[in-house]
Amino acid sequence: MGEKERQRLDKVLAHIGYGTRKEIKQIVKAGRVNVNGQVVKQADVHVWPYKDSIEVDGKQIIYREYIYLMMNKPPGCISATEDAVDKVVIDLLAPEHKTFEPFPVGRLDKDTEGLLLLTNDGKLAHMLLSPKKHVPKTYFAQIAGEVTEKDCEVFRNGIILDDGYRTLPSELIVLSSGLCSEIEVTIYEGKFHQIKRMFAAVGKRVVYLKRVKMGPLKLDIQLDLGQYRELSNEEIAALFNANKPK
Ligand code: URA
Repeated sequence: MGEKERQRLDKVLAHIGYGTRKEIKQIVKAGRVNVNGQVVKQADVHVWPYKDSIEVDGKQIIYREYIYLMMNKPPGCISATEDAVDKVVIDLLAPEHKTFEPFPVGRLDKDTEGLLLLTNDGKLAHMLLSPKKHVPKTYFAQIAGEVTEKDCEVFRNGIILDDGYRTLPSELIVLSSGLCSEIEVTIYEGKFHQIKRMFAAVGKRVVYLKRVKMGPLKLDIQLDLGQYRELSNEEIAALFNANKPK
């Protein structure tokens, strides 16, 4: 629904979570809705969702078409809108956010934690996921075994995965090396199980994986596992700017 369009009042209220069209019809009929200071009793009147002053029970509504959420995805949860067996990230959202029908932008494995963007803005999701855009994604990981300078070089040069695909150059930083090493790695694509397969290709196993950054977006350290928040206007603008042709 664009800013330049007039829309049916019931559609506007349904989009931002005031109930089904039928429920909204009743709310409107009961005289609980006010448009520009006038009680409106017909749910099918057309309004300017961004410009008109619309109140329900005396409370002004703030219309918006899109929602942008940052979640700290917990392990054990699937990055999908529904699943026959497992809990999905959408199950963690409050009704006021679910009503916008957001979906996860890309996937993290069931056991992977960290930054997951959820939105109903298909255009932005498409831009961020487009293989041509090479949006960087940074992960923190714990690796069984010693990660070496040699591994960093191999990652820099691109690695041949189990299916013969050669990855784009990636940046591997060793934070600590030992029986269990800690690393940070940035990749510019998003192949299935990519980080795990990259380490498998150098004979090592990822034991813990967490995404900490996606494009300009950093995981908010205030978010506990399973928590989420809306993006700030600055964060949204940064995501769109990151995708502008340079
Ligand atoms: N790479 C993986 O192996 N798993 C993820 O969840 C993300 C990147």
